[in-house]
Amino acid sequence: MEIYQKDDMLATKNISPGLRVYGEKLINEGEDEYRLWNPHRSKLAAALLNGLENFKLEKDFKVLYLGASTGTTVSHISDVVSDGIIYAVEFSPVSMRKLNNLCKTRPNIAPLLNDATKPKNYIDLVEKVDLVYCDVAQPNQSELFMKNMNLFLKEGGQGLLMIKARSIDVVQKPKKIFKEEERKLKSNGFSILQKVKLEPYEKDHAGFLIEKSF
Ligand SMILES: C[S@@+](CC[C@H](N)C(=O)[O-])C[C@H]1O[C@@H](n2cnc3c(N)ncnc32)[C@H](O)[C@@H]1O
Repeated sequence: MEIYQKDDMLATKNISPGLRVYGEKLINEGEDEYRLWNPHRSKLAAALLNGLENFKLEKDFKVLYLGASTGTTVSHISDVVSDGIIYAVEFSPVSMRKLNNLCKTRPNIAPLLNDATKPKNYIDLVEKVDLVYCDVAQPNQSELFMKNMNLFLKEGGQGLLMIKARSIDVVQKPKKIFKEEERKLKSNGFSILQKVKLEPYEKDHAGFLIEKSF
């Protein structure tokens, strides 16, 4: 996995040199340019800094990304999977407009204006993938994640589910919510390889690294 880390600083090698995506700092190292990856803006960066291990993301990976928004995290994944592809699903037309602009300079992102709760709507557009990444911040996040995993994950692939406790229940303690989401995932045949809290970058969030039995 080509992600560069020095202490609490992460960076990815920019596949479109000279261009920033969200105002991030660019750094030159020899002939290469790197984009600093802000863990306050991207839950994947927060999870990696908080010790996410055994997470696989290789150069030729195919990724299904649910909740792409304007492409902050998608852009860093696009730097890493430089010979692969990211199917980026987002249902907000406003966010999709920005994401479409990003795709003009990043040919490995395929934007899909679609609802991730209805994966059959894009079944003909997406192939089997090595990673299903989900960050939708919705009450039904685990259910839609599982539907997409069942339809699109390759054998041996992984899922990474970012859970925002407050989107599920604002009153319940986050610990209880994470336990309940874990129970749902396990009872549907998924195994949890690792759970990572995202504090101090994101309050009451956790990332679950998941495998599916085939
Ligand atoms: C927390 S933001 C994602 C931030 C993004 N993952 C990043 O790190 O750059 C959640 C996004 O999920 C989108 N979303 C929520 N429910 C969705 C659904 N059912 N289908 C597709 N997108 C959805 C929202 O419109 C929003 O843009």
